[in-house]
Amino acid sequence: MTTQPTWHRLGIAAELQKTPLQQIRIGELVIALSFRDGQFGAISGVCNHVGGPLGEGTLSKEDYVVCPWHSWHFHRLTGLARPGIPSAVPVYETKIENGDLFLNLAAVTERKHAPHPHHPLTREVKREPGPLRIVGISTTAMNQAFPRYSTSQDLLQVALAGAAESGAESKYIDLNALNFKHCEGYYSKSAGACTWPCTITQMDATDQLDQVYEAIVFWADVVLISTSIRWGAPSSLYFKMIERMNCIQNQITIADRVLIQNKVAGFVITGGQDNIQAVAGQMMMFFGELGFHLPQFPFIAHSRGWSAEDMENNIAYVKTNDDLRAGAVALTERCLQLAGGLVACEAAGSIERGGRKAH
Ligand code: FES
Repeated sequence: MTTQPTWHRLGIAAELQKTPLQQIRIGELVIALSFRDGQFGAISGVCNHVGGPLGEGTLSKEDYVVCPWHSWHFHRLTGLARPGIPSAVPVYETKIENGDLFLNLAAVTERKHAPHPHHPLTREVKREPGPLRIVGISTTAMNQAFPRYSTSQDLLQVALAGAAESGAESKYIDLNALNFKHCEGYYSKSAGACTWPCTITQMDATDQLDQVYEAIVFWADVVLISTSIRWGAPSSLYFKMIERMNCIQNQITIADRVLIQNKVAGFVITGGQDNIQAVAGQMMMFFGELGFHLPQFPFIAHSRGWSAEDMENNIAYVKTNDDLRAGAVALTERCLQLAGGLVACEAAGSIERGGRKAH
């Protein structure tokens, strides 16, 4: 770039150098100003990833500015990403005159994005034609090498088997078999730091929660979730999954974009002891917040009560109880019936949710 310098006074150099890294705004321009080893550095304060505030990050030992949102690195003097990554943020010149620090408002280098293909989950969300589709997600945790019988998983599979009789396609996801990370709480840093697709999914090719995102956002008309009851709550795996669904809910508040359209959720809840209603309430609330519809009688459940500690009898009961099995199939039918109506009339091209916005 050969534009004439336009020097802008930032302030007293001796004051500015007291802060190793700071974000400075000059009108629309945002600068990450750093000072180390007697030298100021000025690079764009806008991260190449999704615009995180670089100047609010940290300085690494190697002189990289580390973005506070998802830890991308840019060198504080050259603006370059780490070796091997062809990405860079603009660099700005500084000078000191009469004890004041000045910045040339014209960048001396350009922003450069590393080429990378769009993640498949970034595609347009629309229903592909075809028969109704139902996915069942079992959230019971167990030893994968030596799986045990699970009452919730069993009833979920009975429910899915009922889909074939209705002419629907079904898919089963054993969450316990997927390798996926906990939500890192990016949203807690800033609403904009929680991205769709989830930043973890985008940055870690080994993370397998993309299978759940594919199924519930794109593929399925009906989502059936099964859980055990653990200390009066859904399973820990269930919570690990739904925390990673912040990115779906968050699109509503930060981008006014409802990813879940015309879809139905139902629940299978079993536990040796009690608290079915509280577990169901928690699950209905969460999936309602994502934008799912609920059928009449949106869950089936089984529990033998607080004093029933003879779990082997609980297993025998579920395995042989025709009412529970018929209830599982009926839940599938109710969900599919509602989904069929929604798909047929394509009820909502856009949904005004209102009430809450991140910005
Ligand atoms: S790493 Fe900077 S916005 Fe994601």
